[in-house]
Amino acid sequence: MSEIDWSNLSFSYMKADYNVRCYYRDGKWGELEIHSSEMISMHMAATCLHYGQEAFEGLKAFEGKDGKVRVFRMEENAQRMINSANGLLMAPVPEELFCNAVQKAIELNKRFVPPYESGASLYIRPLLIGTGAKVGVSPADEYLFIIFVTPVGPYFKAGFKPTNMMITRLHDRAAPLGTGNIKAGGNYGASLVAGEEAHHKGYSAVLYLDSREKKFIDECGPANFFGIKNNTYITPESKSILPSVTNKSLFQLAQDMGLKAERRPIPLEELETFEEAGACGTAAVISPIGKIDDIDTGKSYIFSKDGNPGKNCEMLYKKLRAIQYGDEPDPYGWVTVI
Ligand code: PLP
Ligand code: COI
Repeated sequence: MSEIDWSNLSFSYMKADYNVRCYYRDGKWGELEIHSSEMISMHMAATCLHYGQEAFEGLKAFEGKDGKVRVFRMEENAQRMINSANGLLMAPVPEELFCNAVQKAIELNKRFVPPYESGASLYIRPLLIGTGAKVGVSPADEYLFIIFVTPVGPYFKAGFKPTNMMITRLHDRAAPLGTGNIKAGGNYGASLVAGEEAHHKGYSAVLYLDSREKKFIDECGPANFFGIKNNTYITPESKSILPSVTNKSLFQLAQDMGLKAERRPIPLEELETFEEAGACGTAAVISPIGKIDDIDTGKSYIFSKDGNPGKNCEMLYKKLRAIQYGDEPDPYGWVTVI
């Protein structure tokens, strides 16, 4: 694979050799199938095309110094996809099937796992869609679960460098009691206009406020938010944000590093008291936030004056990566060696 420039990968799609698929028909999941085609064929009245029966996941595998490939916390993603399926009345993919499919997809595409030195990783994208035909608004009788993989570099162009975000009150990504807490494709469709606006203005993402009152911090378009002050890692509690596996991991690692950790509503005004802030997620890893501009009020919240990440963000980033790449012990059993 000498033609892949592993160290300069962006977060984009590259064809790998195989994807794995499983169909749900007649009330049960079938056998895992291996495919080399990137195409799927389905009924034009499939519910995923009309009524949003679609949910996805994102997780990563890493090659270690020892040449072993490790996948990070796949059981958490399996459980989240079960929640997403329940939230959209889809057939849930059992954890065992999900984890077998992840392992299979990695094994079959091992030559696409970026080498240790590159700092890149293999992104794993599980997808669950309603394929049964319906014209009335109702759940499908048939579902397709697919996993494809693609080697990726950093999600935000800056990598581990502070990046800027904007706050707007003109768009919400999820309703207060809607689907924000599950990984429904519709949430991402709803975030495209605001995301484009942010990119045009030179920001890497929108930081959403709670959609009921616009008083509290929710999350970024593709990642959770955290702030750090007084030796405390603080991350929002909200019914409309996606429970991030990365955030959950950092919440633990922060405490292991001697910080306190709090999950609670974060009022917008509190932003100015944070010494550091960051966005975290599988794709984003940790992206330190340089500043947040509130487009409506003209107020700016600055976290990095010198263009460098804060010391706590850096320590958390290094610790998380060390566990993922197998450089340091994995005290909580978060990684599975493939
Ligand atoms: N929030 C949103 C809206 C996301 O799309 C993601 C990405 O999956 C995250 C947060 C981060 O979650 P995780 O750390 O599980 O990837
Ligand atoms: C992820 O971090 O896995 C995401 O899903 C973020 C984005 C690519 C949607």
